[in-house]
Amino acid sequence: MQQEGRVFPPDRKTSSGAHIKSLAQYRKLYRESIENPDKFWGKVANTELVWMKPWKKVLTFKAPHAKWFAGGHLNVSANCLDKHLATGTANKAALIWEGEPAGLGAVGEERVLTYRQLHREVCLFANVLKKHGIVKGDRVIIYLPMIPEAAIAMLACTRIGAIHSVVFGGFSAQSVADRIFDCQAKMVITSDGGFRRGAIVPLKKSVDESLVLVDSTGKLLAQTINKVVVVRRTANPVHFEPGRDVWWHEEMNTVSPECPPVKMESESPLFILYTSGSTGKPKGILHSTAGYLLGATMTSKYVFDLRETDVYWCTADIGWVTGHSYVVYGPLANGATSLMYEGAPNFPEPDRFWRIIAKYGVSIFYTAPTAIRAFMKWGNEWPKKHDLSSLRLLGSVGEPINPEAWMWYHEVIGGKRCPIVDTWWQTETGSIMITPLPGATPTKPGSATLPFFGIVPEVVDDHGKPVPKNAGGKLVIRKPWPSMLRGIWGDTKRFKETYWTEVKGSYFTGDGCRQDKDGYFWIVGRIDDVLNVAGHRIGTAEVESALVSHPSVAEAAVVGRPDALKGQALVVFVTLKMGVIAHPGLRDELRKHVAKEIGPVAKPDDIRFAEALPKTRSGKIMRRLLKQVACGGEIKGDTTTLEDLSVLEKLGSSEG
Ligand code: WTA
Repeated sequence: MQQEGRVFPPDRKTSSGAHIKSLAQYRKLYRESIENPDKFWGKVANTELVWMKPWKKVLTFKAPHAKWFAGGHLNVSANCLDKHLATGTANKAALIWEGEPAGLGAVGEERVLTYRQLHREVCLFANVLKKHGIVKGDRVIIYLPMIPEAAIAMLACTRIGAIHSVVFGGFSAQSVADRIFDCQAKMVITSDGGFRRGAIVPLKKSVDESLVLVDSTGKLLAQTINKVVVVRRTANPVHFEPGRDVWWHEEMNTVSPECPPVKMESESPLFILYTSGSTGKPKGILHSTAGYLLGATMTSKYVFDLRETDVYWCTADIGWVTGHSYVVYGPLANGATSLMYEGAPNFPEPDRFWRIIAKYGVSIFYTAPTAIRAFMKWGNEWPKKHDLSSLRLLGSVGEPINPEAWMWYHEVIGGKRCPIVDTWWQTETGSIMITPLPGATPTKPGSATLPFFGIVPEVVDDHGKPVPKNAGGKLVIRKPWPSMLRGIWGDTKRFKETYWTEVKGSYFTGDGCRQDKDGYFWIVGRIDDVLNVAGHRIGTAEVESALVSHPSVAEAAVVGRPDALKGQALVVFVTLKMGVIAHPGLRDELRKHVAKEIGPVAKPDDIRFAEALPKTRSGKIMRRLLKQVACGGEIKGDTTTLEDLSVLEKLGSSEG
């Protein structure tokens, strides 16, 4: 926190054109939003969203269940598309897409879809969904690379009231099957592959594998799937199952482009997005229609301060919540131009992002600290080769940004002229919660600064009491907000236990935090059993259960270790079954096994074999101690509850 003393005041140029022009104006609006939330949210719901039937009541809240804008009817795709068709936005680029193989040169593989064109594609695909029996409330899995069809499929689901669940392309066949089973999905939308760092990610092959996986009793996990729609992207050969698999491009020719948006109730489920938690099974975070859309729309407008001529680029994959709220729904609801890039930042060379910014005149750029640290490592010569003068605003999300990375981002990418919005939020919160507003909020490198309108965060102790300024504690949100999760799919008990029992009546974020004397929030990171590896949430329990499913493994414990590039690295302690002998090849085998079970994102960085794991008398693994061992530190703290003290010494000396 060496930069904590530094404060960057908002620059005049940004302030003069901004939606919110000063800290005083922010504070006034914030106060209004907190003191009279019904009036505040009621007003913005009417100005920001288009309703098919007016809502009756802003909020009904009986913790943990919230209902926002009850009685209202609306449609998300109509708010993102139809709304713009009668305006000058109709022929503006909604999506600018660049494929990875475009490589060098000015003319590459690119597609631009205006709002009118996107509307047509969405209507067509919505009719394809209907043709194959998808109706309101059905669940649809989207397992696609970063191509326009991903956004089209999402919007098409919302048009007919189907609930989408996007699965990140980096997840395994097993993960796809588990998610299909959990939400009982009827259809999968995938592609013959996607390009990533010059190679083809075989998504259809993973889907094929997922559809034959069985549970422990031998029952098919994906029993509910009867259609797979396949986008042709790479032209590599794929297996086609007659009667089950259909081509996207062929289906689109069989349907009409007329598809009126379905009236959805405010609280109708909109999508499910699986995220890691503290048990072995990812949880399906459920978002609903009106509140989510309002959160995504409002924050996009104010945090990115969207203006008519912006070219906005959020680098997140649509498989994560950031891609949902800030590649698709938020920007489109605002009539912005949203850029999508298919591939890796260092393909064919480490300047691909800077090349794209210069080529399309990107003005707003939103990425993750782990990416920023990689850019720093690759060297300043790469951004220096390109004209980045079109940039006017930078954003960061996914993990705490270290002040050094913040300064580099500010100086090398932003040319010292672009404000940085460090935005804190979660899959569960649906939209940005703590963030500077450009032009209004003075920024401090490493702090997400102040709450967005209507958000009441607080740092509390174990009893839920607010801690003094500068003291560390748990971050909770005291009051409901429109885009809050509505539950965990099929598991109300877990929803209550995970978020609403730690501090009674408040939403528990799972993050540690500190508030400074100016009221600025400094997020420390997760304090539950979730790690943040390269901006991806990985549940330790999930990796552990993947490891123990390997025939050689008896027990496993997973902890995080600080990592200069990824934020946190995954360190795994493993005990082997009787008769199995540790050998170097086994380490590799276990890493591959985790990648197969969960996906390459969860591959352990370091695997250590141990004779036993340190446990309390009640049998709980002492992660705190393992963490210290993983970090190479001395063993501190009370170890009197240890079952077998000698275990620790052996762990410390085992090689990594
Ligand atoms: C972390 C991503 C510090 C945090 C939108 C949170 C951050 C988790 C920030 C959610 C930030 C996200 N500063 N930490 N600006 N943004 N986090 O669900 O630990 O993938 O709880 O949502 O990322 O990750 P998720």
